[in-house]
Amino acid sequence: MLTLRYMRPEDIPVVVELDQRSFPNAWSERSYNFEVRENKSSHMVVLEIDSPATIIGFAGTWLIEDETHISTIAISAEQRGNGYGEILLAGLLDRSIALGATYAVLEVRISNGTAINLYRKYEFEVVHRRKNYYRDNNEDAYMMFLNGIDAGYKARFADRLAKLRQRVHYTNLLPSGKPTFQ
Ligand SMILES: CC(C)(COP(=O)(O)OP(=O)(O)OC[C@H]1O[C@@H](n2cnc3c(N)ncnc32)[C@H](O)[C@@H]1OP(=O)(O)O)[C@@H](O)C(=O)NCCC(=O)NCCS
Repeated sequence: MLTLRYMRPEDIPVVVELDQRSFPNAWSERSYNFEVRENKSSHMVVLEIDSPATIIGFAGTWLIEDETHISTIAISAEQRGNGYGEILLAGLLDRSIALGATYAVLEVRISNGTAINLYRKYEFEVVHRRKNYYRDNNEDAYMMFLNGIDAGYKARFADRLAKLRQRVHYTNLLPSGKPTFQ
């Protein structure tokens, strides 16, 4: 069984390890502590398989007024291609829409075709190319925008979510507000 839920402070060491295996520019434990415990705009989530409970993916978004900015997303290498990354992205968009987002933004390496396809599936479009955005290899980034989360988008989003839920069974435990752990 798969569960999508908010990240808890005790998840951070495992998430940091997964982050380091997923990205050349991984976030530090301190960054995760800030995002999970202090940053009220930040919604950090994990995807977990039960028995034994194992975190297989994580993602986050910064929700500020009506903008949601996808900050990170990764699935462990051996679990990719099963719809799990889509669960994370759709989960963050779903929460953001429920909390009032009207548009979404993100940056992605121009060579990351898999992630770009995932974002396009949810109607993100490339609006700008930022030169030398990534410090590790000076790769350019595409800025992608999902503009106009209106009634039409919400209907298409609901269809996509329904198809995803037919394909992969998971429990969505994201509450309507951001939980606090202090
Ligand atoms: C990007 C990532 C999160 C996608 O997660 P995933 O679980 O592998 O993707 P899913 O199985 O949910 O696939 C969702 C969509 O992504 C695209 N996709 C997935 N695998 C792909 C592949 N091998 N080639 C091209 N597109 C692919 C497809 O559009 C797919 O939709 P479809 O199933 O309808 O074809 C995952 O590959 C990952 O963790 N990559 C390393 C970290 C990273 O690059 N994160 C993005 C930073 S911007």
